[in-house]
This record gives sequence, structure tokens and C-alpha cells, in this order.
Amino acid sequence: MEKYVINGGKVLDGEVTISGAKNAAVAIIPAVILCDEPCRIENIPNISDVSLIGRILQQLGAEVKRIDKSTLYIDPRMINSHVATTDLVRGMRASYYLLGALLGRYNKAKVALPGGCNFCARPIDQHLKGFAALGARHELVNGAIIDVKADSRLQGNSVYLDMVSVGATMNIMLAAVKAEGLTVIENAAKEPHIVDLANFLNSMGAQIRGAGTDVIKIRGVDYLHGVTYSIIPDQIEAGTYMCAAAATRGRVLVKNITPKHLDSITAKLREIGCEIKEYDEAILVDATKKPLTRCNIKTMPHPGFPTDCQPQFTTLLATVNGTSIVNENVWETRYQYVSELTLMGAHISVEGRLAIIEGGSKLKGAPVKATDLRAGAALVIAGLCADGVTEVGSIQYIERGYENITEKLRALGADIKKVYKDESSDNVLRA
Ligand code: EPU
Repeated sequence: MEKYVINGGKVLDGEVTISGAKNAAVAIIPAVILCDEPCRIENIPNISDVSLIGRILQQLGAEVKRIDKSTLYIDPRMINSHVATTDLVRGMRASYYLLGALLGRYNKAKVALPGGCNFCARPIDQHLKGFAALGARHELVNGAIIDVKADSRLQGNSVYLDMVSVGATMNIMLAAVKAEGLTVIENAAKEPHIVDLANFLNSMGAQIRGAGTDVIKIRGVDYLHGVTYSIIPDQIEAGTYMCAAAATRGRVLVKNITPKHLDSITAKLREIGCEIKEYDEAILVDATKKPLTRCNIKTMPHPGFPTDCQPQFTTLLATVNGTSIVNENVWETRYQYVSELTLMGAHISVEGRLAIIEGGSKLKGAPVKATDLRAGAALVIAGLCADGVTEVGSIQYIERGYENITEKLRALGADIKKVYKDESSDNVLRA
């Protein structure tokens, strides 16, 4: 029963430092299962999804220690099980990476089906198709556990993905790293975290070529040695602060990022009238210079506009004059936050994959609820721009993926605090 209370209307101004990428971390941490020596992973974001995956590795027998706020030491040598079926596993979407990692190590894996963010059915048929190509058959146990096994060492093979899938690309990479011979993934996803996972595995001695293109080749190796590796900055966290800066008509320097990863977001912010300056590892978003105007966006796999920034950008578009159209092309439904934005006075109608935004109405504070991680981020942005007080509930979704969001926003001048409520009396206990 925690929530964020936002007193809106403050213009964001200042600097924000971006943390390590969630979607890289949740793949790289389980990838350590494949390593034959301990590893040290740096620039780890301090978020609940990372704590969860760390605890899951501990349940499997690994030694996992937090050396400091952003560094994990993981010794996978004591892992003694290919079975990950606890509630912790079920509670996390990205636990599907345990399938690829355990299969790559043991030629078998038994993993609970993922839960996690709740915005639409999230199939893993392409992951399973990849494992099958490598020689592993699967069975669904009690509708809740995937049991994958091969009779002998996995054999490299070609896999053509029917659709571009981040998770399937990474999971097949994990399974293929120690397989016999060459695996080729065609129609692979190209997100920065795919390149990051490949770089991590290669730094341990894997032979992966082509990550970041749509054909990835993996020649299996027998041994992976321990490394110290630093995770890339979080492209979506950066995109979220860029949208927040623009939505409040502020001026924010977003630091510790790779500007290239943000090209699609930068281009759209420029299109609506923000002034953007790019530096080696930072981007300045300045929305103070001229009125912002409408635009259309269509989400696509990388390097297209990321679906994970769609709710935040849609919220920004609700604040600018004119009619904008958003086409959500990756997930069938990712507009659950729209009804909450409507409560705050936004004029948005949804028809299938399209959201039509009649922008420019002044948002008003209201009690709203996060329905998933990025929906939650969008509601926080809405609260920052709204007149009056917004209370965002179900913030556990937001804290899966945003490190210190209230502290970072307060440093930019926002009036936001996290409060803890007594469920029975509805009284605020402490702030
Ligand atoms: N799909 C299938 N079958 C599959 C896999 C995917 O039909 O076997 C479909 C999905 O239904 C979806 C599309 O393919 O329509 C793309 O899904 P993808 O596999 O790329 O998504 P994912 O790997 O499950 C990751 C991120 C998501 C992000 C998507 C797209 C992680 C842990 N999650 O999910 O991140 O939206 O890629 O970029 O990396 C978030 O961070 O908020 C988040 C939801």
C-alpha cells in the first residue's frame, strides 16, 4: 500500500543520471549461470526486478553478493539445479531467461511461466521454437511450468524468428553459447541490450557475431571464464526523463547515456519543437524555447520508436496542442493507462492499436493506478504536469524498473514523495 503523491505544475530543471539498463541486467545476471567462474557485474540498476533475479540465482545455489549499490558479485559454480519453479520465478516476466541459461548449462531446464507486468498476453513460442531447433523438446506441466530437455548436448542450427522478439533472440543466444557447432538466428532483434548481452558473453569467451544486426551467428564453446563487466545505460529510463522534461516544458540534462540508443526519441522530441543537444554521454532536452506541437508515432523494434516509451510519449502528446496519432505496433494492447489519463482530463480515444490524442487540455490531479511499469511512468509524468495533487497507486510496478525515481525527480525540482499507507485505516503512516 505505497503510493506516490505528486504536487504538479513544477517545471523540471537540472541534471539526472541514468542507471544501468533493466532489460540488459535481467538477461545478463541469469547469463552468469553459463559461466564456469565467478563474475562481477557493474552498473547494475537498484530496482526490484534485479533483486528478484539475484534471489532466484541464490535459490538455485549461486553465491550472489552486492558489493556496492551498483555492483554484483555472482559465483555460479555451486548451482546444482536446473529447476526454477518458486513463486519468485513466477513473479517476474524476465525469468524466461532462466530457460535459455539453464538449458545451455544442463541441456535441460524446468522453469515456472513468467508473470510480471500485466499489459497483454506474452507468448514465448519463438523461444521454444529456437530451443527445438537446437534439439530440445518441451512440455507444459500443469499449465504453469515449462519443462525443456535435450537427450544430449544441444546442437547448433538455424532459427528464423517469425517475428522480431527481444526475448527469443536473447534466450536462443543463451542456449546456443555452449551448444555444439554453429547457431544462426535470422530476423533477430537489434535492441541495445541484445548487443550488451552478446558483448558480455563474448567477454567471457563466447563466439557471437552480428549482434545488433538481424543475423546473429553463435559458435558454441566449452568454457566461459569469469569477467568484470559494466552494463549499458538504460535507454528507456533516459527516454522517460526526456519525456518528463518536455511534458513539464523544462530543461534537463540526461547524463550517463549512449545518445545513439535514443535516436528515435530524440528525433520525435525535435519534431514536436524541443531543442536537443547531444554530447558524448548526455543529451540536453530544452522545451523552454517555443511551444510544442503534435506529431504521430509508431512503435517498432529497434531502431524504431520503442514501445517501452510509448505511454510516456503519449502522455507528453496529451499536453501539446493538436491531434496526434500513436500506433502501437509491438504489443497488441498497451493502452491500459489511457483510462487513468482520461480521469486526469486527457482526451484520448483508443481504437485497436491506435490512440488518437486531442492534445492541449490542462491535466488535473487525480488518484490513479499504475497497471504496468511504463504505464506507471506515464502517470507520474501526467502528475508532474497536472494542476493539483495526483496520487499514483500500485507503484510496485514502477519500482520494478526505475531506480530512485522520486529522488531523481525531486532533484529536478518536482514535488513528489512516496508515502506508505495503513491499508485498514487509509491513514498515511510515514512519508
Ligand atoms: N512474441 C510472440 N512470441 C514470442 C515472443 C514474442 O508472439 O515467442 C510477440 C509478442 O507478443 C510481442 C512481440 O512479439 O507482440 C515482441 O515481443 P518481445 O519478445 O520482443 O518482447 P519481450 O522480450 O517479452 C522485451 C522487454 C519489454 C519490451 C519488449 C519489446 C524485457 C524483460 N522485456 O519483452 O520490456 O516491451 O522486449 O521491446 O526485456 C518493459 O521494460 O517495460 C518491457 C515490457
